[in-house]
Amino acid sequence: MKENLFIYPSKIEDYYRKFGLNSLLKKIFFKMMSPFFIYYETITFSRELSLTQKEITPKIKVDIGTLLPQDLKSLKKMTKKQDSVNTKLQSGEICFVAKHNEKIIGYMWAALGPQIVNYVPERVYLAKSEAYIHAAKVAPDYRGKGIFPAILNYICSSLKEKGYHKIIAKVYSDNAASIKSFLKAGFLTIEKVKHLGLFFDKKVFYTIKPIKNN
Ligand SMILES: CC(C)(COP(=O)(O)OP(=O)(O)OC[C@H]1O[C@@H](n2cnc3c(N)ncnc32)[C@H](O)[C@@H]1OP(=O)(O)O)[C@@H](O)C(=O)NCCC(=O)NCCS
Repeated sequence: MKENLFIYPSKIEDYYRKFGLNSLLKKIFFKMMSPFFIYYETITFSRELSLTQKEITPKIKVDIGTLLPQDLKSLKKMTKKQDSVNTKLQSGEICFVAKHNEKIIGYMWAALGPQIVNYVPERVYLAKSEAYIHAAKVAPDYRGKGIFPAILNYICSSLKEKGYHKIIAKVYSDNAASIKSFLKAGFLTIEKVKHLGLFFDKKVFYTIKPIKNN
């Protein structure tokens, strides 16, 4: 497995995963640090693909499928970091797209296990039958119409057909729209992770709290 990580953030991350920090020390440390560093929280979502899916019908007609070579230009137009499209395709990721009147209006990427995915916000260890979905967007004019939950639903059935058992995703906890979409598509919240971004590396985190009820 390939691991493109800076050595220190990964060691700190492993330390916190294993031992955590004494809560008083932690409070003092992070209170002192908070004016200087980026602080944020993520929620981990997961979906067991053996569970039954309910149907989701968006408010407008959309065709959902995987990216076709002729749609690459249109996808790049919607994406801020255009180079990242090529990088993801080269590393074997699948891009799922939603089209309305032949035009791409939404997309999401899936990285397939086994591998360690190393995107902001966190490192994710994927087993052979697991996939990590990320980097989703619905064009502003089409938001609030149930397109993202429909894309998520399509990804679940498509990856289930390919033999995958589980899908994992990470969402910033202030992204209410995205959280709503994941819940609509039957994903469960697994854990909350608090991060302290050190310098320009956003991957250092300091607590993981399991979420019991959904
Ligand atoms: C997050 C995102 C993909 C959701 O897509 P979507 O197709 O609009 O999802 P939904 O239709 O389920 O709407 C989700 C919620 O967005 C909110 N919403 C409704 N209309 C909206 C609009 N015009 N603009 C923004 N948000 C809106 C509502 O709270 C809605 O929930 P509700 O339908 O229960 O009221 C989309 O907002 C987006 O592209 N955001 C920017 C990129 C991003 O955050 N990506 C997610 C990374 S995980």
